[in-house]
Amino acid sequence: MLAEATDVSTYVDRSCSGLRERLRDATSAAHRELDAQLSAFDLTVFSGYRRFLQASAGALLPLEAALVEAGVARMFPDWPERARGAAIAADLERLGRDAHATVSVLPMTRSGVLGTMYVLEGSRLGAKFLLKTVADSADPRIGEATAYLRHGTGQRLWQSFLSKLASNHSCDEDEAIEAARSAFAAFEQAADRV
Ligand code: HEM
Repeated sequence: MLAEATDVSTYVDRSCSGLRERLRDATSAAHRELDAQLSAFDLTVFSGYRRFLQASAGALLPLEAALVEAGVARMFPDWPERARGAAIAADLERLGRDAHATVSVLPMTRSGVLGTMYVLEGSRLGAKFLLKTVADSADPRIGEATAYLRHGTGQRLWQSFLSKLASNHSCDEDEAIEAARSAFAAFEQAADRV
């Protein structure tokens, strides 16, 4: 392991298979904290659900903008199917609010794009669980504003993202991990700000 890590040529050229596990380990504490922070929003009541969407949009919009700026569509030709900015904006509009960025995001490298995409695509897994809570709401307005949480259902976007991650060559793992941590931090900050 140590030999592998210190061999610079192997490090730069090898495929990023195994990066997912490293990303998961490096961000699991941040995921737990964010999960706890988001559980403070009661998704079954109008105001709680709307604040949850505002918090999510606050981070999602600048992260997606930075991804676009960094050329995400060249790395992920199906980017238009992955982007959720329009979906969350439509949900918020239904609930009478504008969607806007509340945190700043630094420009990303190519490896940074992968790390950020890991966090955004992974958040779909959480969304599946959150939808179950939302389904318990007695308020019909909430169920009508779930384009963000439902986005990509049935399209296996997480699985295809993982395949892409595993087949990606010449990426800098430290940069990818750093970007994933920053993406989680952006969501935490945005949740603090609503
Ligand atoms: C309260 C909200 C959330 C809950 C309950 C939750 C729950 C979960 C669960 C159960 C999984 C594993 C699913 C599976 O393996 O099939 C998961 C994975 C993941 N979630 Fe969340 N999540 C939440 C919010 C978020 C958010 C907001 C983000 C990112 C901004 C996020 C990022 C991720 C990532 C990256 C993974 C993949 C981990 C891996 O590599 O296996 N989650 N989440």
